[in-house]
Amino acid sequence: MAGEAARMLVERRPADLGVAITKSSPTDVVTEMDTAAEQLLRKMILEQRPDDAFLGEEGGANSGRSTVRWVIDPIDGTVNYLYDLPHWSVSVGVEVDGVAVAGVVAAPRLGETYTAVRDAGSWCNGVRLRVRPPTDLGRALIATGFGYRSERRERQGVIVGALLPRVRDIRRAGSAALDLCAVAAGRVDGYYERGTHDWDRSAGALIATEAGAIVQGFHGQSASEAMVLAAPPGTFTALHDALIELGAGAPDY
Ligand code: IPD
Ligand code: CA
Repeated sequence: MAGEAARMLVERRPADLGVAITKSSPTDVVTEMDTAAEQLLRKMILEQRPDDAFLGEEGGANSGRSTVRWVIDPIDGTVNYLYDLPHWSVSVGVEVDGVAVAGVVAAPRLGETYTAVRDAGSWCNGVRLRVRPPTDLGRALIATGFGYRSERRERQGVIVGALLPRVRDIRRAGSAALDLCAVAAGRVDGYYERGTHDWDRSAGALIATEAGAIVQGFHGQSASEAMVLAAPPGTFTALHDALIELGAGAPDY
C-alpha cells in the first residue's frame, strides 16, 4: 500500500504543484498531493481493516475497535517533494496495543523501500540493514532536522551550531523517516531532532531499532515530540551527553 501511494505521488505530481493550504507557518507547505496520498492510504487500509485505528498527518486521528493502529505520513519531506528533490518518502507504521510491530518507508525517487518487522529485522529493498559500528563523536556524521516555526528554528540553530565543531559533519536531508532509515542503513552515525510527530517516527524508529540502533528521547525516555535520538549504542551515549551539555534538554529548546 505504501508502494502504491508512492507510485501515485510520482506519476501524478503536477508540474506546477500548488500549495493547497498552509499549516503552522508559510514554510510548512501541505500540498494537494499530501492530502490525496493520505486519502488513498486511508481508503486502502480501512477497506481491508475496517476496525483499525488510523492516525495520519493530514487527516488526523480515527479511533478503532481493534488493537491495531496505523500511523501514516503520506509525504515525509513535503518541501523536497514540492521542489522535486528526490529525498521524500511515504511512511506507514503499524502498532498493536501502542507497540510498533511493522513499518514501511517507501522512497520511490530514490528507488528504495525500507521495511521492518518487530523482533525480525529491517531491510532496504530486501537487503538486511545494520547500523554502523559505534564511533566517538568527533568522527560521527550526524543527521538532524528543523521544525517549521521560526522561534524553534532559532534555538535549533544555536544547538546545531554548537554541535557542529564537535562532530565530523551535519546532514539535513529533509525527511525524518529517511533520517531514521539512514541510521539503520549505516549511512549516518546518528540522528536527533526536536519537534517530530508520531507519523514522522513510527515506521522509521522500528526500522532503526531493528537494525541495532537505540531510538529514545533524553534520559531513557521514549522518543517523542520533545526529542528523538537514534544511533548505535556507543554513539548514542556520546551524542546524548553532548546534546544535554549544549542545552538541548531544556524545556524551551
Ligand atoms: C518534516 C520532515 C523534516 C523534519 C520536520 C518534519 P514533513 O515532515 O520530516 O525532515 O525536520 O520536523 O516535520 O512536514 O515533510 O512531513
Ligand atoms: Ca513528516
